[in-house]
Amino acid sequence: MRSTNSLAAAASAFFFLLTTGPSYTTAASVCNGYSALCDKLYSNVTFIGSHDSAFDGILLVDNQFDSVADQLSLGVRFLQAQSHDKDGTIELCHTSCTEEDAGSLETWLETVVTFLEANPDEVVTLLITNGDGIDGSDFASVFEAAGASEYAYSPSGTLTLSEWPTLGELIDAGERLVVFMDYPAGTSVSYILPEFTSYIFETPYDVTDSTFSSCAIDRPSGASASGRMYLVNHFLDVDIFGIDIPDETAASTTNGEASIMAQVNECNALYARYPNFILLDWISVGDFLQVQDYLNGVGSL
Ligand SMILES: *[C@@H]1O[C@H](CO)[C@@H](O)[C@H](O)[C@H]1NC(C)=O
Repeated sequence: MRSTNSLAAAASAFFFLLTTGPSYTTAASVCNGYSALCDKLYSNVTFIGSHDSAFDGILLVDNQFDSVADQLSLGVRFLQAQSHDKDGTIELCHTSCTEEDAGSLETWLETVVTFLEANPDEVVTLLITNGDGIDGSDFASVFEAAGASEYAYSPSGTLTLSEWPTLGELIDAGERLVVFMDYPAGTSVSYILPEFTSYIFETPYDVTDSTFSSCAIDRPSGASASGRMYLVNHFLDVDIFGIDIPDETAASTTNGEASIMAQVNECNALYARYPNFILLDWISVGDFLQVQDYLNGVGSL
């Protein structure tokens, strides 16, 4: 009797395991808007994002029409920003804080955190430039104060292309903020991923040729394409008396499907894969979402 019982218990436990499998945590079923993206490696997804995301306004040097919060609402999941040291505070300034100061890094990060909190199935990527060589520990303090560090993805060691998690895994782990920095300095922070030393190469920037005819590796110079993700700088400048100004009047052409896809196809011919990141000025104008969906296999042109 007793042995029959334990046999039954063992059988039912076995049946339970068989039917339910090991207990995985609930897996995300929609990732960045599409279930098909959950199983894609992060390194195989194309994110079209905003160059100088914080500089929205009417100054000649501005790059965007919409605030960062509005960009996120529009579907932008990749934000680039330049950081500068203003008397010990990290501010998002345009080349220098006397030229344009778009507020603190902390406020910008808080906007991103608010978005992440409200949108649990979304992965957002940041690319911060560190022209003033600010120490990693200063960035870490700001990330912590803004509540961004708890969402930030910390890989264990430097990842090869095939070692990246899928979007679903990032979402399941709650590490939905991927943070790159062009030149991290000083103290290394596990979630501030070094763009140029390890992960990404870029095509030329401050382009004034509206055909965007080059997909050459511009930074880091002499880098090999293999093993790295890549970023295409698809924002057009116009040279006014020797100063490069974002070309606002060309925005709808530059950000149109034809112009973006022409450069993507050229890059794809060179590197046999689509860009991981594409940066645009005036991102609220043009076809960025449609092109992004197409490149990710979840939409058509
Ligand atoms: C993702 O993989 C597909 C299939 O190999 C490829 O066509 C596409 O270019 C890749 N995209 C990126 C961003 O690597």
